[in-house]
Amino acid sequence: MPHRTLKTSLQEVVEAEGHLIDSHIMEQIFDTVVEYDGRFEVERFHIGKTNAEPSRLRLRVEAPTAEALSLMLAQLLGLGCTPVEGGDAEWKLVEKDRCAPEDFYSTTNHRTQVRRNGQWRLVQNQRMDALIVWENGKPWARRLRDLKAGDEVVVGMRGIRVIPESKERDRHAFAFMANGISSERKVETAVRQTAQILLNSKAAGARVVVVAGPVVIHTGGAKPLASLIRNGYVSALLAGNALGVHDIEAAMLGTSLGVRLRDGRQAEHGHRNHMRAINAIYHAGSVRAAVEQGKLTSGVLYECVRANVPFVLAGSLRDDGPLPDTITDMNQAQDAYAEQLRDAGLVLCLGSMLHSIAVGNMLPGWVKTVCVDINPAVATKLSDRGTAQALGVVTDVGLFLEMLDRVLAEPH
Ligand SMILES: NC(=O)c1ccc[n+]([C@@H]2O[C@H](COP(=O)([O-])OP(=O)(O)OC[C@H]3O[C@@H](n4cnc5c(N)ncnc54)[C@H](O)[C@@H]3O)[C@@H](O)[C@H]2O)c1
Repeated sequence: MPHRTLKTSLQEVVEAEGHLIDSHIMEQIFDTVVEYDGRFEVERFHIGKTNAEPSRLRLRVEAPTAEALSLMLAQLLGLGCTPVEGGDAEWKLVEKDRCAPEDFYSTTNHRTQVRRNGQWRLVQNQRMDALIVWENGKPWARRLRDLKAGDEVVVGMRGIRVIPESKERDRHAFAFMANGISSERKVETAVRQTAQILLNSKAAGARVVVVAGPVVIHTGGAKPLASLIRNGYVSALLAGNALGVHDIEAAMLGTSLGVRLRDGRQAEHGHRNHMRAINAIYHAGSVRAAVEQGKLTSGVLYECVRANVPFVLAGSLRDDGPLPDTITDMNQAQDAYAEQLRDAGLVLCLGSMLHSIAVGNMLPGWVKTVCVDINPAVATKLSDRGTAQALGVVTDVGLFLEMLDRVLAEPH
């Protein structure tokens, strides 16, 4: 791209720092300027010489109209470009609960800093689609519905610095990560590498959160997932009503949605079985009570109760029952998910598009996420919605879990 001299006043000088070349951020910055009919001039570019040293870019950008410039700067901000003459962030008071000033700043899932009284401060509880509120001497990412009258929130685009995640330079060591999404033949490798990430996360004291859909049970994944929980590899389980129902059905009656897990055949009157499972838990009062009363003696939720691993079942419109443990108030369910994700170091999303995307929205962009689904579009969808760190493994989730359990049982 040729450098041109920019003369009009509709311009801004921005700076970015990070692994700009190997993370392809540089290309995206230039593409963004062109997309808004703008022009750019690279004033300075320093390429990092070592693995740890970041590259530094100083760029003068120009747009044909003030509106285009503002839209362009908003996009560039998400790519880590901060206006040099930004000054402090602008704050406005919230006048009414849940009602933000119209020009509020909406967060990404990347590390973000805001400038206040000349100092850059790191935003706490980073997540996407939130506002930035000043509280107790710090900026916090806060959901719209949690805003209170009197809160101070960031508006506009000034005094905000976003630090996009760089692709790890050791990423090529992980074959299935290199192309984002794996093919079947790479599954064995993907499982071994997931096991390694899991072991590294545990060794570093990070929490490992499993997000699972009912297909985990239908595909025979209950046994290996239960084994992972029993062996201390899982810190929390996030799922929906269906996983709970079918796990209990499998544990009590040996079927999942009426299909015998032993031989894959429909059990006689098997369609009643998931309702019998729900009924049994209603009789007991809760999943924990069913375990304590000796009525539920195996399975994923049984192991959670035994090992004191928290599980959250979020409700949905299509739920049967639901189980007494299922949280049917969606705001409360989101809060309970967010609580378990707070210090997660690794998230495994297993066969649930709904819950995987929901979790992706709550996570900061630097939390490692492995998404296992038979449909390659699911990992792509997760990435497209901003969870760019998600690594996809395209395979049957039951087989994946069996292999993972086997690999983790090997001496390491
Ligand atoms: N009886 C019930 O109460 C009941 C039954 C079904 C679903 N639900 C609820 O509906 C909501 C959505 O359910 P969901 O998460 O199943 O739906 P979903 O469509 O969000 O996700 C299912 C995912 O599983 C993937 N998949 C299918 N077969 C697979 C395999 N063999 N290996 C790997 N991946 C595979 C699909 O590609 C899809 O992405 C949940 O809240 C759930 O609890 C309730």
